[in-house]
Order: sequence, then structure tokens, then C-alpha cells
Amino acid sequence: MIPAQFIDELVARSELSDVVSSYVSLTRKGDRLWGLCPFHNEKTPSFSVSQEKQVFYCFGCGKGGGVISFIMEIENLPYAEAIRLLAKRAGLTVPEGEENDAFRVQRERVLRLNHEAARYFHDQLSQPGGARGASYLYDTRRLSKGTVTRFGLGVAPDGWDHLIEAMAEKGFDKRDLLDAGLAVDNKKGRIYDRFRDRVMFPIIDLRGDVIGFGGRVLGDEQPKYLNSPDTVIYNKSRNLFALNLARKSKQGRLILTEGYMDTIALHQAGFDCAVASLGTSLTEHHALLLARYTKEVVIAYDGDGAGTSAAQRAIPILERTGVTVRVLALSGAKDPDEYIGKFGRTAFARLLDRSENHIEYRLAQIQKQYDLSDDEQKVTFLRACAEFIATLQSPVEREVFGSRAAEAAGVSRDAMEQEVKRARSTRARREKKKQERKNLTPTVQLQPRDQSMRYQNIRSARAEEGVIRLLLLEPVLTEKVESRLHPEDFSSPLLGKAYSILCNRYRAGMSTQLAVLAGELEGSEISHLAQVLDRPEALEHSEQAMEDYLSLIEWETAKRSDRAQGEPQESLLAAQARFKEKKSFGGTSHE
Ligand code: GTP
Ligand code: MN
Repeated sequence: MIPAQFIDELVARSELSDVVSSYVSLTRKGDRLWGLCPFHNEKTPSFSVSQEKQVFYCFGCGKGGGVISFIMEIENLPYAEAIRLLAKRAGLTVPEGEENDAFRVQRERVLRLNHEAARYFHDQLSQPGGARGASYLYDTRRLSKGTVTRFGLGVAPDGWDHLIEAMAEKGFDKRDLLDAGLAVDNKKGRIYDRFRDRVMFPIIDLRGDVIGFGGRVLGDEQPKYLNSPDTVIYNKSRNLFALNLARKSKQGRLILTEGYMDTIALHQAGFDCAVASLGTSLTEHHALLLARYTKEVVIAYDGDGAGTSAAQRAIPILERTGVTVRVLALSGAKDPDEYIGKFGRTAFARLLDRSENHIEYRLAQIQKQYDLSDDEQKVTFLRACAEFIATLQSPVEREVFGSRAAEAAGVSRDAMEQEVKRARSTRARREKKKQERKNLTPTVQLQPRDQSMRYQNIRSARAEEGVIRLLLLEPVLTEKVESRLHPEDFSSPLLGKAYSILCNRYRAGMSTQLAVLAGELEGSEISHLAQVLDRPEALEHSEQAMEDYLSLIEWETAKRSDRAQGEPQESLLAAQARFKEKKSFGGTSHE
């Protein structure tokens, strides 16, 4: 357990917009800062940070919270780890309590074990047991000593438990090796090395930690590559091979390849901006990660059918993050590694300069599917082109590529223009219908995004939100409210819970900022509270506003208990009277 006081101080010293700025570029507009949301793909900013309220909220995806939630979310870290990262940033030392977080201990052990294992595999290159592996890397794959060192490559010797034995000497037990995915156990409970007789590629994250491994056979056996399973520290859909090196590149773009060897060969040939996705297709996480470090991504996948269709899938995912996407057209070699081996680095550099922008690429792909000497196919080709061109935002692009498609099919530009226009209006109609359907259910906007938090009583919940918002903004109001409102009076369990946490913290003299609640509430709960906090509130009249919220909640509570008892009660009449009285002041409006 990390002492609450420490967390309070940490939050006070971690200015939200400072922290966010190291991940998202923010621009001021009005009373807040705006940027492209790092949690979902978008082209126009709907992610906002309020410095005054120290809260972030994305109007697109609904994620929100304080500084701790932000770090948890963007670094994919559990609460305590997020605290540690923020502390490092703020130059504070986390006071360690007696009992340590078991999860953190496990994480740290796995990290240390991976580090030791990577060193062991690397050292094996100069041992007799690693001779074949060394020869494979240096002679067969023609890697230099420098490359092998830069990537920390190594070899897992042949045998069942070389690593297990070597790591036991360093104090790691079977549990650790299984946790790290470096060993596997069979039904009889015996464990053996996962990687045997393979050359080893350590996967290193942006902090420089070894989080997993890939291992390749030395011959033609199957499976050719074996990768670490997902572990407490490794998730293949969130990490890219060699991004730790490529992010420091000055080449102004990132090259995305399919394989470890492609990326390594590119680095050795001087293209130090290459990365590889780890035996999976590109995910939204990968795309956002790439977009954090570059404005242009060149897809350099294998030239075969699988590579081409993987590229097709990757293009829209990358595009949505706002990066420029280009696609390399490999010919004469199956992958970048082979291409460089055959034709050399200057040839590859030329290829890179000629790499098609993704629109040309997509059109070429469409064209491949049709035989344009056949009139019927020509028509379907033009339709397919028009549908794709209709999705382009820029009129200039639509015109340029429309003409090109027309030329390819031998029809007039005008005909093509008509076809694109038609496709655009169909799309627009479809979009409009979708929006209308959304608008038909206005209560959706008043309801939390998460189904499980849905409000039973929207009127009351609005007032309850108001109470929470005011308490977050002006904690001193707690003193007045506490005696009148109890957590059970809340119609929304979530808001009731938040209320009780805020009251307890206030009474204990602790911080009541939204950020510090990250330890006690779920991410989706914090997101919802961030949205609540984010709404405008007239702070000049905070006491009056609070009074109005309280009366409304009392009124709704009384109504509920009346309904339960079957006849009008004193409480209801009293509450009604009070409510009316307030109204007649012409009180402030806060909705
Ligand atoms: P080399 O033959 O060493 O040049 O590798 P390559 O990069 O040309 O390999 P390939 O194109 O066959 O595969 C690309 C990537 O897919 C590899 O880097 C691996 O990450 C992954 N991969 C390939 N084969 C396997 C396999 O058998 N199992 C798993 N899990 N992943 C594989
Ligand atoms: Mn290859």
C-alpha cells in the first residue's frame, strides 16, 4: 500500500496538461486544451484537458479522468505502477509499505529474469553450445557483430533445461520461468525450456526492458518462429519490435515490416526507422503507437498474397490516426530482407522514394481484380473505384484519382465524376440515417456510456451529478452537505459511492481531486465522473446551486419513499414546499 498522503502530494505536483503533453500535442481553444485522442482513432480533436479542473475528457470515446487514470490508460499500467511512473517523473520516491503488491513483485521478477535470460542467450553465441546459432546469424543471415549487439541477439542451445538450470543459479525458480513464458510444463508437472536450438530475438519495450522473445529455428523445421506468450509484461498487440531504436531515428518516417529479420536487415543497411509487428496483424494500438512517433508510415510487407492483404487491412487502421500511409511495392524479392540482400541498399532507398501513396496503391489493387477489356467488368471496376474515391475527404484528391480511374477504363472524366457524386450522396444518406437514429434517443446522452451504470431516475441523477461536481470543485461545501445527504439517498449507486468516498476523504483531510479516486474506482467509473466534472458549473453561485441540487434530490427521494408506502407523506409535502420556495427565488440555472 502506498500512503494516501504521498499520492495526494504526487497528484498536486503532477500538472495534468504537462503530463498529457508528453503524449499528445495540445492546442488551447477557449478555456481548455484540445488534441487528438490517444485512446481512439480520430482526425479532428475531441480530446480535451481542463487545467482548472485537472480533468481530461474525450467527447469521442468517453474516456476521462485525472492524471493517474491518464497514465494507467496510456501506459497500460495497473494503479500502483502508474503512481510509480508519475513519481519518477516528479522526482519523488515512493515510500514502500510493509507488504508489497504481489503483482508488482511478479512483474519485477519477470523483468529481471528476462534481462538475465537475454544476457544468457547472447553469451551463448561465444560458447560451444551456441556455435551453430552464431554461424547462422553471422554467416547465413550475414549479420555484423554490431547488429547482433545492437539488437541483443542470442541463441538458445539445444537441450531441455539449459536456461532453467542457468537461471536457477541466479535465484529464479520454476514459477518465475513459467510466469515469464520462458518455460512450459507438461501434464506430469515437469518443466522444460520453451526455446530450444533457436536463434533468439529479445523484444524490448520503450523503457528498455526486455518484455519477451522471438526464436527462429536454424533450419527448416516447424514452427519457424516461436514467440513468447502474453505475460504480465508482454502483450503482442501493444508492442512493436525495434520501436525502442526506431523512435530515435532521424529519417522522418517509420517503416513497418512483417518480420524480425526484415527489420534487422533494414537497420543494418542504414534504415534505422524500421519496426515489425510481432507475428500479428496490425492493431489499433500499434497504429496509435506509431502515430506517436511519426507522421509517415511506409508499409513494407512481403510481396505475396498474404502480405498484400495484410497491407490492405493495415492501411485504414493507420490512416485513421492521421499519419500519411505509403506502401512499398516489392518486386523481385519476397521480403525487404531478401530485397536488400539481392539488390543492395541504394536500390531499397529508390524503392522507398517511389513508394506509392496509399490511394494509388488501393486503386491498383482494385484494378487487379478486373479485366478491363470486358465491358461488364469495366462497369463494376468503375463502381468499385467510385465507391472508394467517394471516401476521400479532399476534393482535389477525388478529382485527380477519379480522372486516373477514368483513364484506366477508357471512359470520360465526366462520367466518372457523376459516378463518384452518386456514391457520395449514397454515403451521405446512409450517414444521415445513422445520425437520425441516434438523435431519436436523446436520453442516451444523459445516461452513462457504460450500461451497468445506467440511471434509474434521470432527474435525480442530474442533481446528484451536480453535487459530485460541486464537491470536486469546492470541497469545503462537504461540511454543509454531509449532514443533509447520505450515500443511500443517491438514486445512482455509482454517484452514491463517489459521494461517500469524497466525504470520507474530506473528513480525513485528504485530497478530493478526481485524480486520487483512481485507486478506488474502476476506469469506466472514473471516465463517467470526468464527464460529470467536465460540464459547466456556475461557481460564483455554488452555495445556491448546491442548495437546489439538494432540494431536488430530497424531493425525488421523498417521492420514492412515498411510492413505496402508498400515500403522500409529510416528507413529500415538506420537500415540495422547500423545492417551490427555492424555485420562486428564480434561482440559478445550472443545466
Ligand atoms: P525469415 O525466414 O527468417 O527471413 O523470416 P521472415 O521474416 O521472412 O518470416 P515470415 O515472412 O515467414 O514471417 C514473418 C513474421 O511472422 C515472423 O517474423 C514471425 O514474427 C511470424 N511468424 C513466421 N512464422 C511463424 C510461425 O511459425 N509461428 C509464429 N507464431 N509466428 C511466425
Ligand atoms: Mn525473410
